Amino acid sequence: MNELTKKTRKTFKNIFETEASHVIRAPGRVNLIGEHTDYNDGFVFPAALNFATVIAARKRDDAIVKVVSLDYGNEIDEFDTTKKITYSEKPWANYVRGTVKTLIDNGFEVGGAELAISGDVPQGAGLSSSASLEVAVGYTFKTLFTLEVTNKKIALMGQEAENRFVGCNCGIMDQLISACGVKGKALLIDCRTLDCEPCEVPADLSIVIINSNMKRELVGSEYNTRRESCEEAAAFFGVKALRDVSIAQLEEKLNALPDVIGRRARHIVTENQRTLDMGKALNQKDYAHISRLMAGSHASMKDDFEITIPEIDFLVNTGSQVLGEKGGIRMTGGGFGGCVVALVPNEMVDTFTNVVCKKYVEKTKITATVYVCKASAGVEVVQG
Ligand code: GLA
Repeated sequence: MNELTKKTRKTFKNIFETEASHVIRAPGRVNLIGEHTDYNDGFVFPAALNFATVIAARKRDDAIVKVVSLDYGNEIDEFDTTKKITYSEKPWANYVRGTVKTLIDNGFEVGGAELAISGDVPQGAGLSSSASLEVAVGYTFKTLFTLEVTNKKIALMGQEAENRFVGCNCGIMDQLISACGVKGKALLIDCRTLDCEPCEVPADLSIVIINSNMKRELVGSEYNTRRESCEEAAAFFGVKALRDVSIAQLEEKLNALPDVIGRRARHIVTENQRTLDMGKALNQKDYAHISRLMAGSHASMKDDFEITIPEIDFLVNTGSQVLGEKGGIRMTGGGFGGCVVALVPNEMVDTFTNVVCKKYVEKTKITATVYVCKASAGVEVVQG
């Protein structure tokens, strides 16, 4: 049992004066390539991380849900599953309330429970701490109330909670990888069919995440306007989603679109192709190709989708100078801060991280944080 699980069980016992019957773990994620393509019915390539949200839980005999959050000073939230579930003034609690409400709205019969929640997914870093919380909550209720529900449905309900209750119009990627991740693999996901194709990350490459420590905020930010621009572009092409537009079709009509909408569409259409190509490049261990695909993705996020910031661009430029064509680097996640992800030959990891972090602090006076990660399993019961 790891430290996080021990700590969460211990707090559960202190607060609720009894042992938890189950402990559930749901991971955060890093996306290797395919950014903002998920809500365009396109392709994404994430891996579940060895950082997770953990919930120690037990069923109650009544309809009350009591939740303690270790990461927010043992703050407690309480609500009744038989009454209308409303917003809490505690932001963290809304992920729990929203997910439980969505389960009920989808016809699942749940009752009261006691939950202690903690996590080690860095928050506000673009590594999906909120999605991991939603999936952990969904799976906890599945486990406690033996609900007949697939992991994909749990992911969809997590997304619904985020869209309708929390108010962020996110796609399905984060919840889906948290629910369906496979140890040692990244998943090439078709966000239209939700098919997931596990793909081995070559053993001689490490997944290195560098956190710029520039906090990002999705709700009420540029995220929703990007989504609207994509919908406008899809309507222009007369298709359901930009997934249905080929690069040739895009080029033919690009000039007829307003400049900004055209560039947003170009990011999505070309990023879908890069994501599919990444599957082949990883299978063939073609590191020069991986390098070019990740560089292309970053340039497209910077110039066409305009979701990077100077600090992130600096990390990517510096990192790519060290890596050359031996590995790849790009921003990962929704944008406007957060992290970069790099695929780095194992023997280069130390040099790579040392050089990039040193130059970053010299340039920005901010200390970056490095996580050398392992692709991990999706949500699971770790005890019970
Ligand atoms: C956030 C959203 C995802 C996805 C990414 C960008 O993480 O939650 O659905 O759109 O941004 O790829």
